[in-house]
Amino acid sequence: MHRFWILGLLYMLVSLSCQHKPAEVITPPQNIDTSGNPKQPCDSTVVYFGRDVLPILNTNCAMSGCHDAGTASDGIVLNSYNNVINTGRIVPFDLNSSDLYEVIIEDKPDKRMPPPPKSALNATQIALIAKWINQGAKNLICEEQNCDTINISYGNMIAKTMATYCIGCHGANYPGAGLNLTNYAGMSAIAANGRLIGSITHIAGYKAMPQGGKLPSCEIKQIQKWVAMGFPNN
Ligand code: HEC
Repeated sequence: MHRFWILGLLYMLVSLSCQHKPAEVITPPQNIDTSGNPKQPCDSTVVYFGRDVLPILNTNCAMSGCHDAGTASDGIVLNSYNNVINTGRIVPFDLNSSDLYEVIIEDKPDKRMPPPPKSALNATQIALIAKWINQGAKNLICEEQNCDTINISYGNMIAKTMATYCIGCHGANYPGAGLNLTNYAGMSAIAANGRLIGSITHIAGYKAMPQGGKLPSCEIKQIQKWVAMGFPNN
């Protein structure tokens, strides 16, 4: 008899302790085409998430202390396509209902993202994000047709790729993994130890970079060539 009482009491305690408020359920929009299509040549009228939008988010939003996976300020992580869509703050084809768009065009500094002292996104970046949402917020990929793998240059090519895709998390202010990739010293170090190629080609055992995405195939080919040439500082 005793045993039943104890079991009953235990059951009550367990069921009470499990009664918490249901978590807010955010349903990501269903009408998003995430299939991509790497075989398509790049179309100058189309916005490609990985190529065009992710670098803006990585550089301005997905840093440590803000919307990276570790901090997830307000529960929002902006470091990959799936995480961006799963915020529920993007409504495809509908700018006015997309909170993520609202906060970047907000003119009250206390509501704007990124918040001061960071500066607001510039008009070009805002227009790109708007166009991406208006085109359905898809995760399209494309193949660059005129990829220059001949005139490989650190200053005119590799450093620019780093500025677009990497230094938001590997700059002087946010040296992710202790890496500052804004200068030749930082770049030549990871070129020499294999981590540059390992991370951008997603070789097992290396952290896949840029976080949450992959560089366009043209940029990968250019970096591979630069490393194979002995990473000249030209
Ligand atoms: C959104 C932030 C972010 C972006 C963008 C990003 N990185 Fe990283 N990177 C990190 C973090 C964080 C780590 C540490 C990862 C860990 O320890 O889990 C890291 C680690 C690395 C490493 C060390 C990898 C290893 O296996 O030791 C390399 C190399 C690297 N990044 C290169 C790059 C390059 C090149 C780019 C651009 C193509 C890039 N990263 C873009 C955040 C980022």
